[in-house]
Amino acid sequence: MSLLKDKVAIITGAARGIGEAMALKFAEQGANIAFTYVSDSSKEKAEALTEKLKAMGVQAKAWQSNAAEFDQAESFIAEVVDSFGKVDICINNAGISKDNLLLRLTPDQWHAVIETNLNSVYNITKHVIRPMMKAKSGSIINMSSVVGIAGNAGQSGYSASKAGIIGFTKSIAQELGSRNIRCNVIAPGFIETDMTSYLKDNPAGDAYLKSIPLGRFGKAEEVANTALFLGSDLSSFITGQVINTCGGMLM
Ligand code: NAI
Repeated sequence: MSLLKDKVAIITGAARGIGEAMALKFAEQGANIAFTYVSDSSKEKAEALTEKLKAMGVQAKAWQSNAAEFDQAESFIAEVVDSFGKVDICINNAGISKDNLLLRLTPDQWHAVIETNLNSVYNITKHVIRPMMKAKSGSIINMSSVVGIAGNAGQSGYSASKAGIIGFTKSIAQELGSRNIRCNVIAPGFIETDMTSYLKDNPAGDAYLKSIPLGRFGKAEEVANTALFLGSDLSSFITGQVINTCGGMLM
């Protein structure tokens, strides 16, 4: 099956975790992959992923680019269009968490989370819609979280950033529908990645497990499967929606 043959997909923050799983899943389905990583320490991983993707028979290129910086987002998108000729799918995946009760949440922590998680989505999307509008086609997938819907003690900043992504996405879905650009959100629950590794062998992690009807944390590949659905024509009549990929934690 080749659901994404010759499509071009952008994925931010894809050197590891859910982004990496989405890059591999999309390449498996024939998509060419343009992805970003931000820190010098991710360079080796990004290079290894690029080689792995190329070995799967697709084009792949990594950019060191901070999605939270407007100018870097602008030049990244321009360079992708130069290199690949178009953008069919854009996944705003880059994200961080800085958890703290509001009493202790510092302005630096608040701003870092809002800039990385929410401003990045504006920065990238603002520039990627131009080539998509020209092509009269596109699928934008924004990574939120179940806590962007339900909230979570100790995650006011993170939840605010993820709730903002949902409002943003529903608004642009209305703006861009007539151009055949679909915009949707994935709201994962707890997924086993570096971001949640602190929950292993931790009483907080055990408590979260009890709140998941399927009785386990999710795998990055399971989120990638949701992205594949939203990125491909399988979801051609779906826009402005939030798909909770959370084992039933939020219903
Ligand atoms: P992760 O921490 O493993 O990966 C996030 C990636 O984003 C990293 O590669 C990081 O370098 C990159 N990144 C951070 N700031 C960046 C920036 N300014 N520009 C470009 N890249 C940047 O996290 P994971 O788990 O793979 O998360 C991916 C997305 O899914 C995030 O948006 C996260 O908030 C969201 N999510 C994850 C959940 C989980 O349980 N793991 C649950 C709900 C949402």
